[in-house]
Amino acid sequence: MPRTATHSPRCAAPAPAGLPGLNVRVPRPHPKRFYGHGIPGVDPATLTGRLIVVEGADGSGRSTQIARLVQWLESQGHPTVQVGLKRSTLVAEELERAQQGNILSHTTLSLFYATDFADQLENVMLPALRAGFMVLADRYIYTLMARDLVRGSDEAWLRNLYGIALVPDAVFYLEVPPEELVQRTFAKSHALDYWESGMDLGLARDMFDSFIRYQQLMAQTFRRLQKIYNFTIVDGTRSIEAINAELRQKIEKLLAE
Ligand SMILES: Nc1ncnc2c1ncn2[C@@H]1O[C@H](COP(=O)(O)OP(=O)(O)O)[C@@H](O)[C@H]1O
Ligand SMILES: [Mg+2]
Repeated sequence: MPRTATHSPRCAAPAPAGLPGLNVRVPRPHPKRFYGHGIPGVDPATLTGRLIVVEGADGSGRSTQIARLVQWLESQGHPTVQVGLKRSTLVAEELERAQQGNILSHTTLSLFYATDFADQLENVMLPALRAGFMVLADRYIYTLMARDLVRGSDEAWLRNLYGIALVPDAVFYLEVPPEELVQRTFAKSHALDYWESGMDLGLARDMFDSFIRYQQLMAQTFRRLQKIYNFTIVDGTRSIEAINAELRQKIEKLLAE
């Protein structure tokens, strides 16, 4: 079994580094900071692990790439923890129910997602980073911001809201055109998701048309955010192996720093 926790390191105590016979590597400290006010009482200098974010639309291949990265990192002796949106023990279930019922105003839903993020940051990401883990995030604040921005949220309000977030060591955005995303999503689940198609925005009656238009808007917004947050755009239309090789090479460089 790989030393991987998909939920909380509260139940995944880190393997102690430096014990004889244990091949566990703890990276050297890497300068960390929060985007804004951060979490009170947390000193970023104590966070010795690495935070690696994989961003991209639904169907862009995030899960596929993260699964391979986890296997590779574990085989190199790096303990890993995975986080993602809607995975907090605090509010994930309630958030799912609220989305199914489609009962919340946009701002309330947005704050719900922010709560889910904050809970995972405080209780999963920060403890894991403190213990020297590699934290792999399947989406981060950028998806949350992009979703809110295409729905007309105020950018300064969002920046303040997510001032709590830690600046990742690397952010990879898997870029795949909406037409290919549709094909992959259909091949995988034979259906499009209401929210990933932006149906709440009333862009088109037809879910297929709505998906394309919504994903185009999201892609434009990501391009804009990329200029601010400086993440690495990865061509996600290549083979799974070619993409993974690029990610591994970039992460190797990061670990050597
Ligand atoms: N580079 C790729 N080329 C073609 N298909 C891919 C590629 N990466 C992933 N897929 C396929 O696309 C679908 C969505 O991939 P997945 O990793 O689940 O995406 P995400 O987690 O971003 O929604 C899956 O069926 C997967 O096998
Ligand atoms: Mg996925």
